[in-house]
Amino acid sequence: MRKQARSFAVKKDTRSPIAMLTAYDCPTARIIDECGADIILVGDSVGTNVLGYDDTTKVTMDDMIHHTAAVARGVRRAFVIGDMPYHSYNTPARALANARALLRCGARAVKLEGGAKMVPIVRALRTGGIDVCGHLGYLPQSGGKPGIVGKTLAEAKTLVADALALQKAGAFMIVLELIPKELARAVTHLLWVPTVGIGAGPYCDGQVQVFHDAAGLSPRVYRHAKAFGRGKEMFATAVSQYVKEVKERTFPTGENASALTDEVATELESWIVKNCRL
Ligand code: KIV
Repeated sequence: MRKQARSFAVKKDTRSPIAMLTAYDCPTARIIDECGADIILVGDSVGTNVLGYDDTTKVTMDDMIHHTAAVARGVRRAFVIGDMPYHSYNTPARALANARALLRCGARAVKLEGGAKMVPIVRALRTGGIDVCGHLGYLPQSGGKPGIVGKTLAEAKTLVADALALQKAGAFMIVLELIPKELARAVTHLLWVPTVGIGAGPYCDGQVQVFHDAAGLSPRVYRHAKAFGRGKEMFATAVSQYVKEVKERTFPTGENASALTDEVATELESWIVKNCRL
């Protein structure tokens, strides 16, 4: 049975950790789905991880629609969240139209960045029947270098107030990015909706990581991440071996291709001799 957004609150109640990972294409989404992740986030981090942009503010709705549709085609079980890109939710009407576009191509909910200021947008989306995941802490769409948010008492209080405001407005889940672990724990205890952390320590109700970091495909390993596999090395080994075998003419062999019957081969040869010589 397909999961509902609200079912993640049950996971919080039963202390069952939520595993979320980003994906941007169909085959990766299929692997993540088959490996049992609860949620696949089609993050606007597609911009930096796949599309070669310097930051996520370059990502467009067209990009997100394209990648969300690709991911949805690979998923049978996991809950797919589509990220709302920069400037796509400036007004309630715009947010509603763009969120509907992500849902039409297979997302089950949308995620947007920001705190109390986003309350009218979250309310409009909820009124339109759209499930919304909030995102607090470091907000990549705000620009600036990634850094920890919520270290000072003032910042920490603002983050708590923002989390409560998003929950009250109807968000079903909140991503907490790059905040101190004690603050993440306090927010997680205060809310009845689940928190999902990235660089927010072990006390959140779930964790989210960027696929390329987790698979060991990113150029560097960040403190908040862990390479659970050696993706880069694995790809490099396979590609180097392919190049070597093509150059040595050991791939492909006859086994890798189909064959004509002897009869057709003979007839073709004599036809070529008769008709194709200059
Ligand atoms: O776009 C993204 O990958 C995200 C995660 C970092 C939560 O927003």
